[in-house]
Amino acid sequence: MRNIWAALALGVLLSVGSIAPAAAQQATQQADEAALLQQLKGAPVAGRVSIPDAKSGVLIQPQGREWRQTLEGPVKSVGGWLLVLTVVALAAFLAIRGRIKVEHGMSGRTIERFKGVERFAHWLTAICFVILGISGLNISFGKTLLLPVIGPEAFTAFSAFGKLSHNFLSFPFVLGVFLMAVMWIAHNIPNAIDVEWIKQGGGIFKKGVHPPAGKFNAGQKLIFWSVVIGSLALAVSGYILMFPFYVTDIAGMQLAQLVHAIAGIVMVAVILGHIYIGTIGMEGAFDAMGTGQVDTNWAKEHHSLWARDVTTRGAGDD
Ligand code: HEM
Repeated sequence: MRNIWAALALGVLLSVGSIAPAAAQQATQQADEAALLQQLKGAPVAGRVSIPDAKSGVLIQPQGREWRQTLEGPVKSVGGWLLVLTVVALAAFLAIRGRIKVEHGMSGRTIERFKGVERFAHWLTAICFVILGISGLNISFGKTLLLPVIGPEAFTAFSAFGKLSHNFLSFPFVLGVFLMAVMWIAHNIPNAIDVEWIKQGGGIFKKGVHPPAGKFNAGQKLIFWSVVIGSLALAVSGYILMFPFYVTDIAGMQLAQLVHAIAGIVMVAVILGHIYIGTIGMEGAFDAMGTGQVDTNWAKEHHSLWARDVTTRGAGDD
């Protein structure tokens, strides 16, 4: 009997003994990792490698975690909410203010607002931007929002196509912005007229208020400079990402990704407002980029100084 008890006790000891080392090993590993990261305090674990690519000698780069947390956390959530709020604000504005009408009605007479080359540059930029914007947002939000809706196969195909378009369309987009910048910069220098326009809220909140404006009003100048500066930030950061490590190290790559994500989301928000006012928000505005011709009453109400110049001098400078 004594032998049986001894055998049982040995069995229990052996089975506990075989589980305990595995659990203990895992706990030690976790403790080691935490202690290592704690000790590193932002310093990488690096060694030497015999291949020319020296950066592959970095085994652990703790700062990468902070960068990922910032990108996945605040940038994504603040950015996502910014876009949602923009859409809600535009919908609320349309519901309260309604479409901004040409108050004196359409005259039936038109004047030229944008030449063919200007419209070409604008639509080249616009088409590229829409595709770049959708494919970019898919990189940030697609896995959370689109994948559960369309399933893994469609999402993979869409994302692969999106990534290719995102890379290639960046070139015509930059060309389009460059052309618009060159053609319109002279009309977008801020001046005293803009101050008055801003004071009167551009006249968009009250019916019957039409502050004077040249070819572009202060709101449009803001759009113009947002597009120029935003696109510059997007292009520089984007090409750094497209050609990794050519001009910068890992910290530069991380900064580029942060700048690209923030500039991209802010620009999408700005352009949503621009598309709104250029389509449903204001009667007669789309024609300017559609046919290049605008109704003279529209011109007199929204760009009185430019309209006066065009009709008296046959030129559109202000
Ligand atoms: C996709 C839809 C878009 C529509 C329907 C649209 C519509 C318009 C219209 C109608 C104008 C002329 C406004 C006027 O005569 O005063 C205009 C101007 C302009 N657009 Fe667009 N646009 C679109 C996208 C874009 C995009 C994606 C960009 C740049 C990334 C852009 C940049 C500009 C700039 C800089 C101007 C001149 C300044 C201004 O009017 O705000 N547009 N657009």
